[in-house]
Amino acid sequence: MNNNPTTIVIFGASGDLTQRKLIPALYNLYRKGRLDQELQIVGFARRPYDDQIFRDQMREGLLTFSENTFDAKLWGEFAPKITYFQGNLTEADDFIKLKEYLEELENSPSNRLYYLSTAPRFFEPAIEYLGTAGLAREDEGISNPWRHVVIEKPFGQDLASAQKLNQFVHTVFDEHQIYRIDHYLGKETAQNILFFRFANTIFEPVWNRRYVDNVQITVTESVDVGHRAGYYDSAGVLRDMFQNHLMQLLALVAMEPPASFEADAVRNEKFKLLSAIRPIDLSDTVAAQYIGYCDAEGVAEYSRTPTYAALKLNIDNWRWKDVPFYLRSGKALPRKTTEIIIEFQKPPHLMFGLGDASDFSPNILSLCIQPDEGIHLSFQAKTPGSDQDMRSVDMEFHYQTAFEGEMLPDAYERLLQEAIEADASLFTRSDGIEAAWRLIDPIIRGWDKERSGNLDIYESGSWGPARAKELLARDGRIWREECGYDDPEGN
Ligand code: BG6
Repeated sequence: MNNNPTTIVIFGASGDLTQRKLIPALYNLYRKGRLDQELQIVGFARRPYDDQIFRDQMREGLLTFSENTFDAKLWGEFAPKITYFQGNLTEADDFIKLKEYLEELENSPSNRLYYLSTAPRFFEPAIEYLGTAGLAREDEGISNPWRHVVIEKPFGQDLASAQKLNQFVHTVFDEHQIYRIDHYLGKETAQNILFFRFANTIFEPVWNRRYVDNVQITVTESVDVGHRAGYYDSAGVLRDMFQNHLMQLLALVAMEPPASFEADAVRNEKFKLLSAIRPIDLSDTVAAQYIGYCDAEGVAEYSRTPTYAALKLNIDNWRWKDVPFYLRSGKALPRKTTEIIIEFQKPPHLMFGLGDASDFSPNILSLCIQPDEGIHLSFQAKTPGSDQDMRSVDMEFHYQTAFEGEMLPDAYERLLQEAIEADASLFTRSDGIEAAWRLIDPIIRGWDKERSGNLDIYESGSWGPARAKELLARDGRIWREECGYDDPEGN
């Protein structure tokens, strides 16, 4: 961190992400007084816009995606910080012109955050030309301006391409300059996992194989692939959700406590955790596609891209040996929810003669990442008036009521703020990305080989394929869902 002002250059600025997420996040940071007054934002894209057209578009985006925080007067103050530079990502010359443009725009030595909000095929040319134009070079010394690059997902298509991309980026930027985004890490509730575990003393002693029966991570979405079919059909659910978001949530839940909250200390522990996961057996995986997926525009006619996956994995370390972790995610499911369940072991001996009206279930701790952000702990209570009956009751924490009046910021707000403050703790390091690919890649290849079968189908709006239930049933378990929903089917 130094005291220089910062310039953010958004490459691919005419794309959806800038309007939907990046500018609203920056505007909201400004509204909260969290942005340096001198911060400048430059949109870089090919379209023949000028500053005013670009600003008007961003204003529209804000009105659509962050309407309740829009204030015309504040926008009037904020908008002049935004300018537009017309350029082509595959033209080296345009980067030289960009350099001149930035030097003219900035009144004093400034930090630069290059945000690659582009299709992945433009990552390499943009990085190369940032290098050749001299835009990536940092002078040594803590007070000198830094040059950082933010890279959106997907980071690679598989392990080999992720390694290649890492190598390529490293020819221009040092690792400390690279910020690989996983927007799940910017969610307040995902960040709260570490606070919950390590800023309290009562949970950590039971957070291990001696007390935990199994852990479940569920990330469901009600939306289908919609207008992103072109991208999605070549990605599928493992690349789109597991390699990044689910693996990162898993790392936060299962990692050892780092000695400090410093970026590398946190990322070392995540890497250690991901490296301790045993290669996943194909028989512990389920792939499925919702009915009607192939009719979407942009999807190949007989596409076998999975839109749902469930898997079981094991972590070979002292804390987690023999505790299964079950992960599932899919599109076109009944509702959007992200939830982590820690299911504790049953008592070794039950002295109560359970009556017919009893409904015995183990203690469950549920971390509700979204939408009803909070934490639930369920335990058994004696049913009043009964002899020995009991049932499960809940102790609940909800962000909405506990932090009354505080709106949870969008993930991009936190991530952009951290990037501007040059703190990389919430961003993925090269080894973390590769460790996650190392686990996911063999499953994708295995599924591709088994083309003849193994891809189940499910009704849109259902809870996914029956085999996902069986994956747990064969271990005598069921999928749990606790975050404020009744789930009579025990999906
Ligand atoms: C993205 C995926 O990374 O995450 C999308 O590409 C998915 O397919 C999205 O819909 C989910 O994010 P969130 O924040 O809405 O849960």
